Amino acid sequence: MKKYVLLLLAGMSYNSFAQKTASITVSNNSKDTISRHIYGQFAEHLGHGIYGGFWVDKSLPVQKQDRIRLDIVNALKKIKIPNLRWPGGCFADEYHWRDGIGLRAQRPKMINTNWGGVVEDNSFGTHEFLELCKLLDTEPYISANVGSGTVEEMSKWVEYLNFDGLSPLTTLRKQNGHPESYKVKFWGVGNESWGCGGSMTAEHYADEYRRYATYSRDYPNARLRKIACGASDGDYNWTETMMKNVGPGRMWGLSLHSYTLPTGKWGDKGPATGFGEKEYFNTINNTLRMEEFVTKHSAIMDKYDPKKRVALVVDEWGVWTNVEPGTNPGFLYQQNSLRDALVAGTNLNIFNNHCDRVKMANLAQAVNVLQSLILTDKEKMLLTPTYYIFDMYKVHQDAKYLPIQLNTPDYEFDGKKLPAVNVSASQDKAGKIHITLVNLDAHNTIEVSTELKDIMWKNVSGQVLTSGSTADINTFAKPLNIVPKQFNAAKRNGDKLVVSLPAKSVVALELF
Ligand code: AHR
Repeated sequence: MKKYVLLLLAGMSYNSFAQKTASITVSNNSKDTISRHIYGQFAEHLGHGIYGGFWVDKSLPVQKQDRIRLDIVNALKKIKIPNLRWPGGCFADEYHWRDGIGLRAQRPKMINTNWGGVVEDNSFGTHEFLELCKLLDTEPYISANVGSGTVEEMSKWVEYLNFDGLSPLTTLRKQNGHPESYKVKFWGVGNESWGCGGSMTAEHYADEYRRYATYSRDYPNARLRKIACGASDGDYNWTETMMKNVGPGRMWGLSLHSYTLPTGKWGDKGPATGFGEKEYFNTINNTLRMEEFVTKHSAIMDKYDPKKRVALVVDEWGVWTNVEPGTNPGFLYQQNSLRDALVAGTNLNIFNNHCDRVKMANLAQAVNVLQSLILTDKEKMLLTPTYYIFDMYKVHQDAKYLPIQLNTPDYEFDGKKLPAVNVSASQDKAGKIHITLVNLDAHNTIEVSTELKDIMWKNVSGQVLTSGSTADINTFAKPLNIVPKQFNAAKRNGDKLVVSLPAKSVVALELF
């Protein structure tokens, strides 16, 4: 009996503590660039994303320019956000831009029917958004109203913002304090036109898109990058129809929306905090479907566009949980844990590795909504674990993509398994190599042996983001609970790089 128990214990310890290993080969044989626009963000008129987020009451005791919160601006500038999508989301297809210009006191109020039925005073409109983008040093990405708008409305919005010459609309822009044109490049033509943006069929939307796109003009030095509404998750028919009926030449990008629901269901999506390993495993399993979605949508696009002229624009992605208890269900306010950071690192690695087709992406959303970078509580502000992933990954922006071959062990839970490690790599203009690795395994450190083909390097430094539990969060009482730390477990061994990747961690390495 005693002998049996000992054997059992020996067996258990073998299974639980066996050294897990992965191997990676990084090559230097690609001409692709990781577009900085993969690191884009999204700010919808939703809950406290804009009102009470970016745009606050005059009386709030924080530094502001006009009513734009500067602590948020400064935090986002640090992670170099390349573009900001606005005003929605579903909100975009009920937004009429003329209601948001001119004297604020005279702007009509509106009901935000999609998000909580609250009344908005339109004090944050086009000029305020573009001022925010200027402060952030980021490119605006405007979603125009197709669902309840008109071709004329979008066409005039483009003229109002982008035309330099004399016209009634440019005169109005000047009266509203902006003599120079803004030259807004990125324009979304509707949002989720298969759902909240008009419940259209793919065929009908393709025709509508062509009409809207025809009259949205390129003005001198303001060539538009028009982004058509694309599919949700695995709706491959939508992509096929858009590529067949619209095709390259008429659109710069075609979007894809894909959210990670912890339970995989739209009803009870699962909580943002206090979850166990089962919920963690399922969330990760669900988020890994992004690889399949991007691969399959790209394959359809390749059929019609082998030269990859049309970008796949994943302009809504991220974790969507139940709202925090006691908050307005229409405001989509959720906490952000280490799990969100692992999801973010994984998705960004997927996008980087598909950078030949994925040229833009937007996390949903920047402040106080869904998988936020920043949460605020009156004058208090905290940076979420997801924020730090964008900080650690910003080195990939506009860097040369380095292809990777990966052999990874599985992360096993309850008889199910998924690949434990994911990774992407790039070389910046100064020649430095950056490798971002995620270990999704909740328990095991993984030894990663890395071969770098035709790549010269001498030294390595790194940062790691991890915590005791995947459900750990930053709170207003403990805002620095999860922050990146110096990483010392990457070493040179002969011509190999050997990395001891902690359980449930994201590691960013720099080789120089
Ligand atoms: O990001 C929240 C909502 O999710 C957006 O408004 C909509 O486009 C999507 O369904």
